[in-house]
Amino acid sequence: MSIDKKYIEHFINVSSKAALASSYLVGKKDKIAADQAAVDSMRLELNKIDMNGKVVIGEGSLDEAPLLYTGELLGNKNGPKFDIAVDPLEGTNFAANNLPGAIAAIAIAEEGNLFNAPETYMDKIATGKIEKGLVDIDFPLKKNITNLSEFLNKDVSAITACILDRPRHKKIIDELTQLKVKIKLISDGDVLGALYVSNPKYNVDIFLGIGGGPEGVLAASALDAFDCHFQGRFIFDNDKDIKEAKEIGITDLNKKYELDEIIKGDSIFCATGITSSEVLSGIKITDDSYKSETLVTHKGSNFKEIIKKISSIKK
Ligand code: FBP
Repeated sequence: MSIDKKYIEHFINVSSKAALASSYLVGKKDKIAADQAAVDSMRLELNKIDMNGKVVIGEGSLDEAPLLYTGELLGNKNGPKFDIAVDPLEGTNFAANNLPGAIAAIAIAEEGNLFNAPETYMDKIATGKIEKGLVDIDFPLKKNITNLSEFLNKDVSAITACILDRPRHKKIIDELTQLKVKIKLISDGDVLGALYVSNPKYNVDIFLGIGGGPEGVLAASALDAFDCHFQGRFIFDNDKDIKEAKEIGITDLNKKYELDEIIKGDSIFCATGITSSEVLSGIKITDDSYKSETLVTHKGSNFKEIIKKISSIKK
């Protein structure tokens, strides 16, 4: 089965309207308001679509999030059954402080095909398209870097690794430094961080480290369409997370997830720039229209493009 191409336009509309809504709050030092605006818009637009959608990754459980909560049913109940993962505002600090890299993101797969990720951290590794078995989250870092350097026919010193700038990554960052790998430290936004490996133009050969689990699933859904390599392992380091994992049916808490266990079959991914980044320009408003840039993938039709649109604000 595949997802009809007509849905591409619908989901571009959803992510670009969420980005527009959030863009009014860029630089206002209020990440909750910027997030809420994107959430409200995304929910409103999703409910207009001909589908039976179910949020599998959202803003949290029903008691934490009144809108776009995990399990919420969306759409006008008139169409195919979809699993939906949303991150209406990814990079809340970026939006609040008017820094590059805030996006609105959404991924859709057919029912049962998108992993219902717990709200925990995830250890992740991603590269472009490589031979199977070359890079593995369980290999020592040096082995991954050496294998990648041989595969890419690049000196280790020419390899670039992207990682979130966090104290928890000190050991990895120190080791990368010793290996003389180029490091691209990001302060937030590891959906885009992982997406850098999808195209050589971003000059990132490997993305690694611990970030949000839901963000990992969203990144994986886009990387799938680019035939990239991605693995993730959720981190359950407290009783609450362990209990919740068991409740959603995760029995092996140390399981390594391959990309095809996170997302299966056909999918659509859309990420619209709110503030500009190396990947996407941010929302630009002029009078009664706005310009948006959305990275769109549709696995079924092998569609992978950045779509630039000018839309009416009133529409
Ligand atoms: P928010 O948009 O929810 O603020 O997330 C930003 C982010 O940097 C994600 O991209 C990343 O996965 C996560 O936070 C990392 O979490 P932490 O800041 O706790 O290390």
